[in-house]
Amino acid sequence: MSIIHITLSFLFLFVFDSHDVFAATTRHLCRPEQRNALLQLKNEFKIWVSNGKTESWANDTDCCYWDGIKCDAKSGEVIELDLSNSYLYGQFHSNTSLQSFRFLTTLKLYYNDLYGEIPSSIGNLSLLTSLDLSSNQFSGQIPSSIGNLSLLTSLDLSSNQFSGQIPSSIKKLSHLETLDLGRNRLTGEIPDSFASLKNLTRLDVSANKLSGNFPISLLNLTELSYLSLTSNQLTGTLPPNISSLSNLRYFWASDNDFVGTIPSSLFTIPSLTDIILSNNQLDSLLEFGNISSPSKLKWLVLGRNNLRGPIPRSVSKLVKLRVLDLSNWNTQLGPIDLSIFSHLKSLRDLTLSHLNTTTTIDLNAILSCSQRLETLDLSGSHVSAKTKSSVSDPPSQMLGYLTLSGCGVTEFPEIIRTLHSMSYLDISNNNIKGQVPGWLWTLPNLTYVNLSNNTFVSFESPTKQGLSSAMRFLFGSKNNFTGKIPSFICALDSLRVLDLSSNKLNGSIPLCIGNLKSNLWVLNLRHNRLSGGPPENVFERLRSLDVGYNQLVGKLPRSLIHFSALEVLNLESNRINDTFPFWLSSLQNLQVIVLRSNAFHGPIHRASFLQLKIMDISHNHFNGILPSDYFVNWSKMSSLGTEEDRSNENYMGDRNYEDSMVLMNKGVALELVRILKILTALDFSGNRLEGEIPSSIGLLKELHVLNLSNNAFTGHIPSSMGNLTALESLDVSQNKLSGEIPQELGYLSYLAYMNFSHNQLVGLVPGGTQFRTQHCSSFEDNSGLFGPAFEEVCGDIHTPSSQEEAEEEDEEVFSWIAAAIGFGPGIVFGLTIGYILVLYKPRWFMSPFGRNKRRSRSTTTH
Ligand SMILES: *[C@@H]1O[C@H](CO)[C@@H](O)[C@H](O)[C@H]1NC(C)=O
Ligand SMILES: *[C@@H]1O[C@H](CO)[C@@H](O)[C@H](O)[C@H]1NC(C)=O
Ligand SMILES: *[C@@H]1O[C@H](CO)[C@@H](O)[C@H](O)[C@H]1NC(C)=O
Ligand SMILES: *[C@@H]1O[C@H](CO)[C@@H](O)[C@H](O)[C@H]1NC(C)=O
Ligand SMILES: *[C@@H]1O[C@H](CO)[C@@H](O)[C@H](O)[C@H]1NC(C)=O
Ligand SMILES: *[C@@H]1O[C@H](CO)[C@@H](O)[C@H](O)[C@H]1NC(C)=O
Ligand SMILES: *[C@@H]1O[C@H](CO)[C@@H](O)[C@H](O)[C@H]1NC(C)=O
Ligand SMILES: *[C@@H]1O[C@H](CO)[C@@H](O)[C@H](O)[C@H]1NC(C)=O
Ligand SMILES: *[C@@H]1O[C@H](CO)[C@@H](O)[C@H](O)[C@H]1NC(C)=O
Ligand SMILES: *[C@@H]1O[C@H](CO)[C@@H](O)[C@H](O)[C@H]1NC(C)=O
Ligand SMILES: *[C@@H]1O[C@H](CO)[C@@H](O)[C@H](O)[C@H]1NC(C)=O
Repeated sequence: MSIIHITLSFLFLFVFDSHDVFAATTRHLCRPEQRNALLQLKNEFKIWVSNGKTESWANDTDCCYWDGIKCDAKSGEVIELDLSNSYLYGQFHSNTSLQSFRFLTTLKLYYNDLYGEIPSSIGNLSLLTSLDLSSNQFSGQIPSSIGNLSLLTSLDLSSNQFSGQIPSSIKKLSHLETLDLGRNRLTGEIPDSFASLKNLTRLDVSANKLSGNFPISLLNLTELSYLSLTSNQLTGTLPPNISSLSNLRYFWASDNDFVGTIPSSLFTIPSLTDIILSNNQLDSLLEFGNISSPSKLKWLVLGRNNLRGPIPRSVSKLVKLRVLDLSNWNTQLGPIDLSIFSHLKSLRDLTLSHLNTTTTIDLNAILSCSQRLETLDLSGSHVSAKTKSSVSDPPSQMLGYLTLSGCGVTEFPEIIRTLHSMSYLDISNNNIKGQVPGWLWTLPNLTYVNLSNNTFVSFESPTKQGLSSAMRFLFGSKNNFTGKIPSFICALDSLRVLDLSSNKLNGSIPLCIGNLKSNLWVLNLRHNRLSGGPPENVFERLRSLDVGYNQLVGKLPRSLIHFSALEVLNLESNRINDTFPFWLSSLQNLQVIVLRSNAFHGPIHRASFLQLKIMDISHNHFNGILPSDYFVNWSKMSSLGTEEDRSNENYMGDRNYEDSMVLMNKGVALELVRILKILTALDFSGNRLEGEIPSSIGLLKELHVLNLSNNAFTGHIPSSMGNLTALESLDVSQNKLSGEIPQELGYLSYLAYMNFSHNQLVGLVPGGTQFRTQHCSSFEDNSGLFGPAFEEVCGDIHTPSSQEEAEEEDEEVFSWIAAAIGFGPGIVFGLTIGYILVLYKPRWFMSPFGRNKRRSRSTTTH
């Protein structure tokens, strides 16, 4: 006992002692003025989280032992400062105490939230050998004083927002070995003077806005092993003698605007392992030169250029090749000899998509000559996958990823049955008829299958072996599937996405679909002939449920209230007969509700749809009045909030699945193939709503589309609508509205389409530009509208012939595009164009109202 006791106390003593000794011997090290400067530097920034390195920085301890600090053992000067990843936020003071550390050799501030310019006094830290400010928000020009840091061997300013030109003073950094300026906003040319950085081994200027020709001067950098120029705006040809870069191991130049030829000498650089030139405009007959010495090349990515001519046979000498991408190659009517790939024993990843060749690629042949392929992409090239093959070799057993989209395939490739490693199969956009083979679902690792846009009619029942439990993504839309939804699908119990939209499936949705309830994210059965009720089970992870355009009847299942992940609910064009589902407002994630064209009825109770961005309840039998505070709690339509929501590049859904819908916008039915996250819309049209339009509508400041037409609204148009500053499309036609059009609407500068027709409106039409660019029909059949804008639009009233009318309708779409272009400057200008050109793919749907109706009317009067 006592021995243990003694030992323990001894240990404690030792610990305490050593701590004392530690402190005692080091106390003298920290120089007071350096400590103060460090504390001042710390005070220049805010610190987000309290577990950063500066936590240990306290006035009464030795600063040389603070986290991130290293001092010179003799002088006590701080020589290393590493505050990377320290939750720092803020900007350097113009008189930053950083300049006090004149003996600093290493400065690391990467992964913080620092912004503003780098003070030019950084050039005073003349002993620096390593400077890393990457992954912050620094902006402005790179100070030219950086050229004074003549001892630097490593400079990393990547992933900031530096703009302007690369300072030419960088040429003075003659010891530089690593230079990374990637992922900034630098413009101008890559300075020729880089040629003086003789020891440079790694140069990365990717993802900037650099222009000009390929910097030939770089050829003088004989030590270079990694060169990345991707994602810039460089032009010109690649230099012929690039092979003088004898140490080059990686050469990345994809996603630029390089044009011209590829020098054959590029491929003879013995040290090169990776050549990435994809997605440029290189246009040449490719030669690989005389590949005599054993090539080290592993990656050769030449796809998406304008390369033409025969594929050089010498490609077969690149025996170390693992990744080969020759997509979009134009063989100029010449054949391709697939046997050249059979020498590439290391090849794992082969992309021969969108080839322009007369050769039909024999899938069986290519799989048996490239035995170790893991990934094969033949999309857009002509492929045959005939069952009978003359090739006897067993195919690759490693193939996991096969893309045969748009290959003109007419039979389901039987060879896939033998590919047991298959996990991703895309066979969409072909002409395959008949049955989907049952064995497909027994491939043990199959996770993703895309069968869409073929002419399959049915699913063969799976063979007796077990179904794969790996299946997660099944896309079967745009086929000719008939009959009931096969029950084996219910046994694919890992399914995340099931999309069987646009087929001819009938019967009811099978009860067993409930087996998928714990994993399913997306269920899309739109555009079929399904009957019965919507699914009753609780799908607690379902994000998107789309059963629109079927023949579903009955009530909305109350179980929906437990779909806590639901973001999109689309029931349009069915025969669901229920009251307004105000109870859906308890779904905290619900963003889109479409109940359009069903048999919903009764009043629409007040509810607070906090996250809702799109609600379309049009063409039902809703009635009653809306209280004036109806829209008080619709927060998302009042303010979108986060940056992510505001970015116009974000669509609802994810990489594997994007939601879609049809929206009446600006008088036409548009199919949104993807839904922008920032899109907000309310469509209450085609009901029997009465009373006044709630004045709280003015709170929905983010609303883009509002359609209240074809109801029985009375009273005045609320002037609060003048607060809908984001509004682009407003339709209040076919109501019983009286009074004047509020003058406030004249200031809505994005309001490109409006329709006030068939009401009892009187008075002065607002004079804003948007009002002056409408069609007269937007104001027709009212009690007494007048004013300059009205005269301008309807002044020259004549009865158009039906021919003329039809032409005018065609023009209508373009007139609001023109209006948007003319009068919608600023951010929304970009967004508006985005909608039109990218998002909205107009399609003239068989809708009972709007464009088609009017067209058929004009053709019948013809
Ligand atoms: C650190 O302490 C000294 C005296 O011990 C004092 O003069 C100085 O102002 C303190 N510095 C900071 C930043 O608190
Ligand atoms: C800058 O800071 C130093 C101490 O770090 C101080 O002596 C000097 O007066 C300051 N200059 C200005 C202009 O603030
Ligand atoms: C520090 O740098 C600034 C700006 O580059 C310069 O004006 C100043 O003279 C330098 N100070 C010292 C002590 O070198
Ligand atoms: C370049 O690197 C070599 C070898 O590492 C070295 O001897 C030479 O001093 C370096 N030159 C410069 C300018 O740093
Ligand atoms: C490249 O080096 C050669 C000599 O080796 C020299 O003549 C040429 O000017 C250099 N090019 C550049 C752009 O520095
Ligand atoms: C395919 O190549 C031929 C011959 O070069 C050319 O005429 C044709 O336009 C090309 N087709 C495509 C789709 O690029
Ligand atoms: C299926 O995937 C697992 C895990 O990725 C792997 O271990 C197994 O070898 C694969 N099976 C086949 C037949 O490739
Ligand atoms: C369907 O596939 C065909 C080729 O078979 C293609 O031309 C067409 O564009 C595809 N349709 C859709 C909607 O992707
Ligand atoms: C779709 O299937 C029906 C029979 O169910 C058949 O009559 C029709 O020709 C098929 N359409 C296509 C495009 O294969
Ligand atoms: C809806 O159901 C009610 C009975 O619950 C019925 O009276 C009414 O006619 C139905 N509406 C439609 C449009 O089918
Ligand atoms: C419009 O909004 C402003 C502030 O957001 C508010 O003060 C004003 O009352 C609103 N106007 C109407 C007519 O609702």
